[in-house]
Amino acid sequence: MKWLVLLGLVAFSECIVKIPLTRVKIMRNTRSEKNMLNNFLKEHAYRLYQTSSPGSNIATHPLRNMEDMVYVGNITIGTPPQEFQVLFDTASSDLWVPSIFCKHPTCSSHVLFRHNESSTYRPTNKTFSITYGSGSMKGFVAHDTVRIGDLVSTDQPFGLSVEQYGFEEMPLDGILGLNYPNISFIGAIPIFDNLKNQGAISEPVFAFYLSKSKPEGSVVMFGGVDKSYYQGVLNWVPLKQAGDWRVHMDRISMEGQTVACYGGCEALVDTGASSILGPRRLLNKILRFLGAKPRGSEHYVSCSAVNTLPSIDFTINAINYPLPAQAYTIKDSTGDCFINFEVNPVSTSTETWILGDVFLRQYFSVYDRGNDRIGLAQAV
Ligand SMILES: *[C@@H]1O[C@H](CO)[C@@H](O)[C@H](O)[C@H]1NC(C)=O
Ligand SMILES: *[C@@H]1O[C@H](CO)[C@@H](O)[C@H](O)[C@H]1NC(C)=O
Ligand SMILES: *[C@@H]1O[C@H](CO)[C@@H](O)[C@H](O)[C@H]1NC(C)=O
Ligand SMILES: *[C@@H]1O[C@H](CO)[C@@H](O)[C@H](O)[C@H]1NC(C)=O
Repeated sequence: MKWLVLLGLVAFSECIVKIPLTRVKIMRNTRSEKNMLNNFLKEHAYRLYQTSSPGSNIATHPLRNMEDMVYVGNITIGTPPQEFQVLFDTASSDLWVPSIFCKHPTCSSHVLFRHNESSTYRPTNKTFSITYGSGSMKGFVAHDTVRIGDLVSTDQPFGLSVEQYGFEEMPLDGILGLNYPNISFIGAIPIFDNLKNQGAISEPVFAFYLSKSKPEGSVVMFGGVDKSYYQGVLNWVPLKQAGDWRVHMDRISMEGQTVACYGGCEALVDTGASSILGPRRLLNKILRFLGAKPRGSEHYVSCSAVNTLPSIDFTINAINYPLPAQAYTIKDSTGDCFINFEVNPVSTSTETWILGDVFLRQYFSVYDRGNDRIGLAQAV
């Protein structure tokens, strides 16, 4: 029996496709400009949602934040392949890259898809627009062969931008959404669904390991879970509802005292968000608890006090996921330390927290489409 299990595991791990991710930094001091852009987008976003949302619960997704630090990996599109650096994002469902149709200077800092150089390219006349917390884009849907490592999706629908704002300084070309098909803005079958339906992956799961200290070493894996990236048990959390990587959270506490998420709330597990985002009022409560002082758009603590600050404990499905102060503080260029939490720009009727990279560097995460659940374990 033991032998059989062992053989099964070996065969299983051989089918895992691993894509290395590079951690790239986005200058923090460009943030105030970004905030202005965010405000502009927020004012204009409402109408975009109205025209492009097929369902009412969608409006909360696209307004998201992708600042400070993001993890990017390479994919190719077309025949012969053209390479792009994309953000693998669990909060959105679409793949898009910039195209040579984009004549804006905002596109010039990126690799542009040259449709005229791909023999498998097939355009459509379907247009769409997406708004994110730190940018927006407009484009149309096309089909072509997309490769993620050894995984190939032929005739994959994806977006080509003809206009984009807010991604100029981003060290990435496009975004590859890994959320459920329900929230696709371009109304296409997402790449993970196509790979799953075509039987290209052995198991309908993918997982993220985000390196804590090194710029390299991070990875997104498809088709299985490599246990060498976590320690202890992998705890499974059922989704609130199949169709979104969102779970129920029991509470947020510090030193045993509940500070937010009283009586439960919702948490979005989001590899495309760099920090942790929550409602302003509750965030302020946490900042007060930590004795953080406002300066500019951030809240600062003394760096020498970081070691004495308590962990922030996120309780999900009765399991405690502590976030030590070293994980939720950042030393800025002047050597001062600020709290890496942000106000969620979207106000929702239910209290919603976005667990981004600050959380996911501590906890290896698995996204199981077969069982509609998320797995969390202590990252190595
Ligand atoms: C992605 O492609 C770029 C450009 O070819 C290359 O410099 C980089 O090392 C690649 N990144 C990874 C993680 O393979
Ligand atoms: C495709 O279009 C781009 C931009 O117009 C141009 O630079 C490139 O030379 C074209 N490629 C071919 C093979 O015609
Ligand atoms: C464009 O879309 C319309 C429907 O909206 C369709 O009837 C037409 O055939 C499409 N044209 C092309 C060239 O795909
Ligand atoms: C999303 O899709 C899943 C199936 O993948 C379905 O069970 C669920 O009801 C859908 N959710 C919404 C909100 O449409």
